[in-house]
Amino acid sequence: MALVPLRLLLDHAAEHGYGVAAFNVNNMEQIQAIMEAADETNSPVIIQASRGARKYSQDAYLRHLMLAAAELYPHIPVTMHQDHGNSVSTCLSAIENGFTSVMMDGSLEEDGKTPADYDYNVHVTREVVRLAHPRGVSVEGELGCLGSLVTGHGEKEDGHGAEGVLSRDQLLTDPEEAEQFVRATNVDALAVAIGTSHGAYKFDRRPDGEVLAMHRIEQIHRRLPNTHLVMHGSSSVPQELQDIINQYGGKIKQTWGVPVEEIQRGIQHGVRKINVDTDNRLAMTGAIREVFAKHPEKFDPRDYLKPARDAMRKVCIDRMVAFGQAGHADKLRLSGTASRG
Ligand code: 13P
Repeated sequence: MALVPLRLLLDHAAEHGYGVAAFNVNNMEQIQAIMEAADETNSPVIIQASRGARKYSQDAYLRHLMLAAAELYPHIPVTMHQDHGNSVSTCLSAIENGFTSVMMDGSLEEDGKTPADYDYNVHVTREVVRLAHPRGVSVEGELGCLGSLVTGHGEKEDGHGAEGVLSRDQLLTDPEEAEQFVRATNVDALAVAIGTSHGAYKFDRRPDGEVLAMHRIEQIHRRLPNTHLVMHGSSSVPQELQDIINQYGGKIKQTWGVPVEEIQRGIQHGVRKINVDTDNRLAMTGAIREVFAKHPEKFDPRDYLKPARDAMRKVCIDRMVAFGQAGHADKLRLSGTASRG
């Protein structure tokens, strides 16, 4: 199966009541880890690259790696998604490079740091939908800004993230506005703001409803039962991954992520795409640190990249099973929906 649009995956996920992890990548080992996990668990997958990742890996390398993934694993439906596109031209260049799905993040202006107003967001998102849909490419929009309900600050991901202190209104997606936004833009999926942020430092204690507004998701889903919702900043930041890094000389301050059970609750209320990057970064870094600490004589990159890839594969398998996408790759393929490419 060639690369498929996000919509196809998420429609199937909605029909069967599961969620799909969207894993960020920057290099070959990360793509390999995800594909191995997908193969092992029979999972459809979303592989996503931010603007920073595209710059780091270069579009041509990324494009060919993704085509290699589709070639090596023809039985796994794969969506290649642009994470946090900042402008119409970023989304267009992703489409030209074979991405089958793009996020137009119009919650921020093109500079990727200034919160945008509603009309700007509708305008740019609608324009991306107009250009993407005829090409068979899906579009994710975002309403509300990612950031902590405690501090009011967003965390940057690859330079993309709100600056300054955000108000509660900006940090929580308004259900009524969400309904208007989806109607006005015709997006395939909607990212919502509920108090999560990118990176490891999301919460300074195990989150409760005060800092992680899962009830917002329920309210939005009630108004938009047929819209696929997206949770960003959804790494769980497991204690054991923090511990491994610190055990081998790292310095991760005690922190908490989004518990997997909360994501599972979200999946029961319309969440279909769950963005996970940090957990994989932590897993890879811990594995590399461990090799460096235990075998300081080693210098072949394969000696540490292989354990790093294995550590990421394990995280991916855990999430694929927990979100329910495991076991669905062949069903999706057999459902006979058309593929692109
Ligand atoms: P984490 O930093 O929680 O993994 O979130 C990643 C993300 O939301 C990418 O858009």
